[in-house]
Amino acid sequence: MDDANLHLDGQSYALPRLEGTEAEVAVDISKLRGQSGAITYDPGYGNTGSCKSAITFVDGEKGILRYRGYPIEQLAEHTSFSEVAYLLIYGDLPSVETLREWRDDLTTHSFIPEKMARLFEHFPQSAHPMGVLSALTASMSAYYPDSNEAEHVDLNIRRLLGQVKTIAAYSYKQSIGAPSVLPRRDLEYAANFLHLMFATPDVEYHVSEVMAKTMNTLLILHADHEQNCSTSTVRMVGSSEANLYASASAGVSALWGPLHGGANQAVIEMLERIQADGGDYKKYTELAKDKDSGFRLMGFGHRVYKNFDPRATILKEACDEVLADLGVSDPLLDIARNLEEIALKDDFFVERKLYPNVDFYSGIIYRAMGIPMNMFTVLFAIGRMPGWIAHWLEMRDDPDGRIHRPRQIYIGPTERDYPKTR
Ligand code: ACO
Repeated sequence: MDDANLHLDGQSYALPRLEGTEAEVAVDISKLRGQSGAITYDPGYGNTGSCKSAITFVDGEKGILRYRGYPIEQLAEHTSFSEVAYLLIYGDLPSVETLREWRDDLTTHSFIPEKMARLFEHFPQSAHPMGVLSALTASMSAYYPDSNEAEHVDLNIRRLLGQVKTIAAYSYKQSIGAPSVLPRRDLEYAANFLHLMFATPDVEYHVSEVMAKTMNTLLILHADHEQNCSTSTVRMVGSSEANLYASASAGVSALWGPLHGGANQAVIEMLERIQADGGDYKKYTELAKDKDSGFRLMGFGHRVYKNFDPRATILKEACDEVLADLGVSDPLLDIARNLEEIALKDDFFVERKLYPNVDFYSGIIYRAMGIPMNMFTVLFAIGRMPGWIAHWLEMRDDPDGRIHRPRQIYIGPTERDYPKTR
């Protein structure tokens, strides 16, 4: 296999060829500017490998997603979110004993310090829970040591994972003016989150098996997705040696936008808009094709997946099952199915390889489970937390790691003098 050769302004530069374990080929340009003075231009980083990573493999053409080598379909069916979190963060499946201790640790560390819990009272009731989650995640650095000692890092990982669901649920309780409850020791991660969301101090909440299983699946499906916008943000912030909490908080903020994690909320808003407009889904597929309309089919398209999103396939099936189990019939589901059917046949979507992504069906499932819409992206953040932590750790220990600092092509005015009189 040959290295690449770049010819530029009469000079030739050999650029080393790199190959990953799944035969992905890359051209190493890390010395390009030093040798030639030139930089590369890649808006949105669609062709840029920012790191070497052993965490998650995605093949967007074939619809493959694997965490540490394990196919997402197998993990979604057979494991728990805690186990997947351990796998992503520490690289291998835990032994039975280690898993038991890990689960206990995540519960032990899910209680929010009293002073920190008081912060919730200072947010207006209308605050978006993503803003609260980002702020509270960053504030954890004020309560726990910001140290790079392995032992502290390990504890901080457990605190962050344990508390993220508690912070999320408390922000919901705050938004509806309801009192919060403490986590339960007997419940697994997903079930514990549902308890924190829906129990009240005076009414015991029974976490149904269907709800716990579905929440577990949803969290697993969101747990990592290699160098997406929020994970790259966590790595970017962490590359300055910012602590884990600050880096994870930046990840929450990056996830918030409707082109990323915010899409699950945007999908429901879109479906509601179509419903309010008489359910005319054909009109909206036409609108999405018109670039001047500014309207896109939310939950469609993906930077990496160009045939199907394997997470969407799992969720589409889960969606039918859960709604049937919970006895919920949702007219938005019919609109979603119709939109999908028409878009999958339409040349505009077919040519551009636009398929439903993970967010297309997750919102409908959350709705059926009684999760309010402004919590959808928060659930994504809880699910993605192990991925962010795993990437933060990998970035920190990367021997090639440097502070992230891209270059630019300056296109502004060339030098000019400030006018002497004005
Ligand atoms: N509806 C209509 N047209 C679309 C859509 C859509 N949802 N997505 C892409 N297109 C069109 C674009 O207009 C463009 O057309 P053109 O080539 O004629 O100009 C072409 O498809 C490529 O689109 P890009 O925006 O260049 O694709 P990119 O890879 O940059 O964006 C993204 C991917 C952001 C996901 C985009 O498809 C989108 O906005 N989707 C809707 C929002 C969404 O569902 N986001 C969730 C993503 S999954 C996640 O974050 C977990």
